[in-house]
Amino acid sequence: MPLPRLGGIRIAGTGMALPSRQVSNADIAQTVDTTAEWIEQRTGIKSRFISPAGQTTRELAVAAARQALANAGMTPSELDLVIVATMTPDMACPSTAALVVAELGAVPAGALDISVACSGFVYGMNHAAALIASGFYKTILVIGAETMSRITNFEDRRTCILFGDAASCVILTSKGAVPGQGCLHQSMNSDGRAWQELYLPTCDAHLPAGPNSTFNGKLGTLQMNGQEVFKFAVTTTQKAIEEALAASGVNVSELAMIVPHQSNFRILDLIRTRLELKPEQVYVNIDRYGNTSAASVGLCLHELMETKRLKQGDLVLFAAIGGGMAWTTSLWRL
Ligand SMILES: CC(C)(COP(=O)(O)OP(=O)(O)OC[C@H]1O[C@@H](n2cnc3c(N)ncnc32)[C@H](O)[C@@H]1OP(=O)(O)O)[C@@H](O)C(=O)NCCC(=O)NCCS
Repeated sequence: MPLPRLGGIRIAGTGMALPSRQVSNADIAQTVDTTAEWIEQRTGIKSRFISPAGQTTRELAVAAARQALANAGMTPSELDLVIVATMTPDMACPSTAALVVAELGAVPAGALDISVACSGFVYGMNHAAALIASGFYKTILVIGAETMSRITNFEDRRTCILFGDAASCVILTSKGAVPGQGCLHQSMNSDGRAWQELYLPTCDAHLPAGPNSTFNGKLGTLQMNGQEVFKFAVTTTQKAIEEALAASGVNVSELAMIVPHQSNFRILDLIRTRLELKPEQVYVNIDRYGNTSAASVGLCLHELMETKRLKQGDLVLFAAIGGGMAWTTSLWRL
């Protein structure tokens, strides 16, 4: 049985938060030229949650963090560092993490935002694992939080059907962990040459030149070449998972669960088929939340922990891909 490279780290608690308004496919079909059936067939999404005007990423992040602290039986003062993964920060400065630390009452914990789009939660877990293994930090709160509705053009049917707002988080700690628990393998990669497949331009200078531009006409909103992202997601995620398993000497049949970023059910199903995984080995909840970017992997983790589908000793592989393009894996023994 392979031992964790970054051992002696456990999940102390998880949390999640959603806006109050649930938006169905039928609701979306009233505003753009699409149908509820088309959205469900092409993406697996049935509904998503959308924040009311003025609700910020910080608000959702704090609500999720409070739930995780309660689940962990910890106080905010036990947090050494808070990492917030988001592409919809409240402000560029200060970091959303600093605002979360202050609102939780966790001062003087360290605070940092990371910007890796949909890969953010897993990138955050990987940073936290390495920092805890260094011995300088005992307990780190990793949050993925997004108000994607702030950067969505609700007149663009190619993108507005996909995204939802949410926050999720995990508290990772060395306190009370045994050496066999922790991160067996991790990878963080990017290919910025493909940035124009998924990007957020805020001025004309950001727009790619040439006839292939997918620009939807509205600066400050997400631009996407859906077909290219789809292909990239399937091939890159499959390869990254295979590399993680080979590097750690773990067979796919040993995995209790793969927790992938929830981008599109068809993407997840193709990856599952190619890796010859059983349906119950790949967690899917995109039907209820849509693509919540940095929050999505943490939403899955929280549901798996709450429903006790994961238990101590299980091998779990987290995998994500998103804008950048950036992709990442993280293999854990719980
Ligand atoms: C966006 C996505 C759902 C589109 O599905 P698709 O099967 O690739 O659809 P296509 O882009 O090939 O478009 C097929 C047709 O449907 C149309 N279409 C696009 N969006 C539509 C919608 N919401 N409703 C109805 N028709 C739509 C297109 O205009 C096209 O029509 P045409 O054939 O007349 O030109 C899919 O490409 C996808 O999920 N890509 C990955 C996105 C992603 O994961 N992004 C985040 C990464 S973290």
